[in-house]
Amino acid sequence: MKALVVGGGGREHAIAAALSRNPDTSIFSVMARPNPGISRIAKKVLLHKETDTQRIAAFAKECAIDYAVIGPEAPLEAGVVDALEAAGIPSVGPSRAAARLETDKAFCRELMHKNRIPGCPEYRVFHNTDDAVAFIENHDGDLVVKPIGLTGGKGVRIMGEQVDRHGAIEYVRSLNGIAVIEERLLGEEFTLQAFVDGTGLVPMPLVQDHKRAFEGDTGPNTGGMGSYTMPDHRMPFVAAADYTKALEIMQATITAMAQSGHPYKGILYGQFMNTAKGPKVIEYNARFGDPEAMNVLSLLSSDLGEIACGIADGTLCSKNVTFEKKATVCKYLVPEGYPDKPASGKPITIGDDKEALLYYANIEEKDDSLFTLTSRTLAFVGMGDTLEEAEQHAEQAASSVRGNVRYRRDIGTRKLLESRIAHMKGLR
Ligand code: AMP
Ligand code: GLY
Repeated sequence: MKALVVGGGGREHAIAAALSRNPDTSIFSVMARPNPGISRIAKKVLLHKETDTQRIAAFAKECAIDYAVIGPEAPLEAGVVDALEAAGIPSVGPSRAAARLETDKAFCRELMHKNRIPGCPEYRVFHNTDDAVAFIENHDGDLVVKPIGLTGGKGVRIMGEQVDRHGAIEYVRSLNGIAVIEERLLGEEFTLQAFVDGTGLVPMPLVQDHKRAFEGDTGPNTGGMGSYTMPDHRMPFVAAADYTKALEIMQATITAMAQSGHPYKGILYGQFMNTAKGPKVIEYNARFGDPEAMNVLSLLSSDLGEIACGIADGTLCSKNVTFEKKATVCKYLVPEGYPDKPASGKPITIGDDKEALLYYANIEEKDDSLFTLTSRTLAFVGMGDTLEEAEQHAEQAASSVRGNVRYRRDIGTRKLLESRIAHMKGLR
């Protein structure tokens, strides 16, 4: 089978690596800039803008691609799945209309509200500055201000954490009042990703990501500095009832999408806040998470290609989806100064540690040397029977890298996990 992977980050390297574990699958790639990991696996690469949907569909036809897997959200928003399917190429990813679950935060909240889907925080959608400002001025309690469109996870302002009431008002003014404003949720975040075939879902192991740049969850928000999974595929601060509820919320969302005439297929990424009153949806993404894809795809023991075909033709079956019962810890190395002033163009060298999986992300390979760019550089995934073992593998590999890069040593440590558990206990 010929599989096309769209996108060139760490997530897409993990997708290509998982697909290529089947020796009968050959990988084709469209990416905006070369990812050395994907280039090594791929039979053919088109270096091209990932939102040029017509060019991507034409390339897929030229290469007689059997199915496509879309990594990032931008091509989905541009309608790459619509273009591929019009060219007769089955795809893992939602249509442009169905991708609004991620690309339009107002659409997402209104779908949940109209269909009485549990887990929706109190929210209001605003289209002008006066109304939005008046709402923030007169509201008791902390709020969260979100732009309606895509912002790479960096567009949210949280009162009581990043801004005060005055700062929230300034921010909503800068958005010309076009925003979703919602209650601030308190709790522990977790990620539930699922394979979705239009009507049903098959869940992947729970993951916890770390958005903040620095240890101890301090500093600015990033695309995600690293993430971990547990051997039982759950999180110790997510009770069985919370997990069931989160699955019900995702299933109800998929059912509502099908009823709306825009069935959802692809990967559905639910970002949840486990609150004192159970899980609430922070947002949906219409794709794998980055870094979360690297955790779950490293564990996947069944054939991703077969799953992809089940998603594309609506015959996905949970029997064909298995994950190893191991822990994973993913640590991203990022340029010094990331995300505000990343040191790009700096040489790095990687030690010869063989215990962790290496996924390349935003990195340049020139004359056999590696250089940082402006975004996340590369990631290591350690695996093991326990979290400790997985963390040690990731940590050893990460500490072997020399150059102007840094990473969070605390990700995947027992100490950080214990603080999450204690936080959840304190809330309940
Ligand atoms: P998003 O762009 O929606 O993923 O939001 C980025 C980050 O903002 C999330 O990972 C959360 O940590 C935080 N966040 C978003 N919405 C809320 C909310 N309603 N309450 C508390 N934190 C939130
Ligand atoms: N890890 C967050 C995201 O992929 O959006």
